[in-house]
Amino acid sequence: MTSSNPATVYRLDYTASSFLADRIDLVFDLAPSVTQVRATTELHRNPDSENRDIVLYGEELELVRIAMNGKVLAKPDYATDNGELRIPDAPDKVTLVIDTLLHPDQNTSLMGLYLSNGNFFTQCEAEGFRKITYFPDRPDVMATYTVTLRADREKYPVLLSNGNLVEEGDLPNGRHYAKWEDPFKKPSYLFALVAGNLVCREETFRLADGRDVLLQVWVEKNNLDKTAHAMESLKHSIRWDERRFGLELDLDRFMIVAVSDFNMGAMENKGLNIFNTRYVLANPRIATDLDYANIESVVGHEYFHNWTGNRVTCRDWFQLSLKEGLTVFRDQEFSADRTGSESGRAVKRIEDVRTLRQLQFPEDAGPMAHPVRPDSYQEINNFYTVTVYEKGAEVVRMYQTLLGRDGFRKGMDLYFKRHDGQAVTCTDFLAAMADANGRDLSQFERWYSQAGTPRVKLQSHYDEKNRTLTLILSQSCPQTPGQTEKQPFLIPVAIGLLDSHGKDMPLRMEGDKAAPNSRTLELSEESQTFTFIDVAEKPVVSALRNFSAPVILEYEQSDDELLHLLSHDSDHFNRWEAGQRLALRRLLSLTKAVQADRTLTLDSAFIDAFRAVLTDTALDPALRELALTLPGEMMIAEKTDEIDPAATHRARQFMRRTLAENLEKEWLNAWQENRTEGAYRPTPQDAGKRALKNLALSYLLLLDKPAYGRMAIDQYHTADNMSDRLAALTSLVHSGWTDKLPEAKALPDHFYREYENEALVIDKWFSLQATSPNADTATVRKLMKHPAFTLKNPNRARSLIFGFCHNNMAQFHAADGSGYTFWSENLIELDRINPQVAARLARCMDQWKRYIPSLRKPAEQALRNVSEQSLSRDTREIIGKTLS
Ligand code: ARG
Ligand code: ZN
Repeated sequence: MTSSNPATVYRLDYTASSFLADRIDLVFDLAPSVTQVRATTELHRNPDSENRDIVLYGEELELVRIAMNGKVLAKPDYATDNGELRIPDAPDKVTLVIDTLLHPDQNTSLMGLYLSNGNFFTQCEAEGFRKITYFPDRPDVMATYTVTLRADREKYPVLLSNGNLVEEGDLPNGRHYAKWEDPFKKPSYLFALVAGNLVCREETFRLADGRDVLLQVWVEKNNLDKTAHAMESLKHSIRWDERRFGLELDLDRFMIVAVSDFNMGAMENKGLNIFNTRYVLANPRIATDLDYANIESVVGHEYFHNWTGNRVTCRDWFQLSLKEGLTVFRDQEFSADRTGSESGRAVKRIEDVRTLRQLQFPEDAGPMAHPVRPDSYQEINNFYTVTVYEKGAEVVRMYQTLLGRDGFRKGMDLYFKRHDGQAVTCTDFLAAMADANGRDLSQFERWYSQAGTPRVKLQSHYDEKNRTLTLILSQSCPQTPGQTEKQPFLIPVAIGLLDSHGKDMPLRMEGDKAAPNSRTLELSEESQTFTFIDVAEKPVVSALRNFSAPVILEYEQSDDELLHLLSHDSDHFNRWEAGQRLALRRLLSLTKAVQADRTLTLDSAFIDAFRAVLTDTALDPALRELALTLPGEMMIAEKTDEIDPAATHRARQFMRRTLAENLEKEWLNAWQENRTEGAYRPTPQDAGKRALKNLALSYLLLLDKPAYGRMAIDQYHTADNMSDRLAALTSLVHSGWTDKLPEAKALPDHFYREYENEALVIDKWFSLQATSPNADTATVRKLMKHPAFTLKNPNRARSLIFGFCHNNMAQFHAADGSGYTFWSENLIELDRINPQVAARLARCMDQWKRYIPSLRKPAEQALRNVSEQSLSRDTREIIGKTLS
């Protein structure tokens, strides 16, 4: 806990470790209140380092004994200070035997060794291993591990660690042991152990090279019937990596373990992936279509890390995007390929871009803005961000856009050929891509070093006489903390042209032989002009197709042009984009109208365009659902000069209600016609239908007609899957029918009782109430008193507290500042329990300086109240940067 600003670590201060570890042997005597750890580590001097001292890291450890080359050390043979243990002027080769004591039952941070429902788990990334023993806990120190686990046989029948099981047996006093050996060298952040009362679904699986491997999914006993989808997802992931990248599983055994208390989504520990239960457990009764899709993508993500992260790892934590950006890109491509269709790929792309815009663009424009490869941090856990992950994935995607799929694959092959078994940097990745393709990509490095979302301005001129089209592209990038001047980026801008019938027109430049229907322009200077010839008529330009770069495109297009794109663009992404732009334009002027107390109106051209999309049965239901979903409140607010959440909320509600009124018949049709046939299947087709059907239902419930309320109640009761049931309940609660219709009143309670024993469903129950436009702080405070609520479980805390603070804009920003007071109280309490989760909650206030003046004051007050407390390093960094 600190009250002043914690020390800053700088990327350019990197120096190699003074000593390298070759091997480590760990023995754990596991017990909840006191666990003994003996670490025997073989180290040798690193010729690349000037430092003569051995430097080990350790946090919150009780050191019992340390011996070097057989001799017990006493101070001043070694010194401990501020999380470091230093042995001055050590010999070139040493064996250290270190005994430490841990208290897993006291560990609420969920880093290092901790308990969840009575079982033992570890989380070491980024710097959790130092909470287990003293070690050079940094990713460029890679060693082979042997791990012996000893524990009570009855309470902890299952003992797991990385690699292969080499020995197991009984011990006196009802205890037993298991010994594991991981043949691959790895950094300490990939170490893991699990001990407890668990069961598994297992399968033998044949790899492309003919080897058989054992796949296991470990869960608590009552969850065994929810593991089939995770297992399927794992097998699909293995196949996909073999086919798309020629990468094979290198172990004989691959395990996934589900844990209910987990700070993040999942963790790629070598051969022993540990997952938040929410990314493993599914059956139609408890999981929605979104849950099914998320499980597939997270299982893929962690599996893909085995090559991008584990075999080739990061030199230091500033390089985090080397593995995360790349692995997110890989999981995005996996999910896209899994849909098996072009429109499925487009749906996935739209969803990913929506996330980027809703979460990463604001981050890039706020006090926490940082480059994909950050230059400094106070707490590395604060840099597991949407910038490092999602923008990082966009950066990787741009290589593929610039080099083509084959060129990208060549780059990947060279990357593994050069760096297998090494800890490397983002620059090494860039060099592999450049060298494999004989291209100079030095300018591309700016995507790693410069923060902020670039703006690309496009102007187009059609010359009727010469039949030429001139495109002038220019770029700029706003200032971000610590970066005032920006150099131009290399930006791939994919372009298409539509004729008056909506058909693609060929794109030909002077001297071209071929004239493709879509082409990627490379914008590398501040401003560039591209001229196309033989352009038969004045086209409508479809720019930044498939979102070819993570930029904000500024291009004036009329409503007519956008309507043309919305109905005809062969690029699905840009069809969707045109609809969003039409809506956004209106939502912004409606927001102004609300603020000025003017009457709100919506033009019929827009309503007609929405009708056309809604009734276009040739268009994939999933795409229709995306097109008919209005930009989120945060997206709209971002585009205003001063954020006025209440006004934005009212504007959006007005538009939704108007679309409900004017398209009532069409919504009802969509609800009726998009029922799925047969047993529940989480396929993209069926999920798309359900999404559209349930969007229709949510619109219908905005109308003052109890018949629709009853329709939703009926859907709730007859649903054979969680998607339909949850959608019905959510819409009923959010549109206030649970207060107005007696038959609906009892539904939240009914839902609770039905799923009382399913923690993940109870999370949904809390979250749907927290995000209701009718829920104020009083509602949420009351829910916090519910016996099922606890701040200690991250999923539960997120469902209610984050649900309200992050995803209930209008209520969180209540004019009286009550939302901010609520936020500060919970942040302070949560920070004492779990700094990592608390620091995420702290991010709710990123944008406070852009709020309307009446909100800025209470927001600042709440921030100052938090700042006066003694805070963790994690939360201190966020609050410090937010206030500065
Ligand atoms: N590497 C994990 C992933 O797959 C995330 C782990 C983050 N853990 C943390 N304590 N920050 O993305
Ligand atoms: Zn990852």
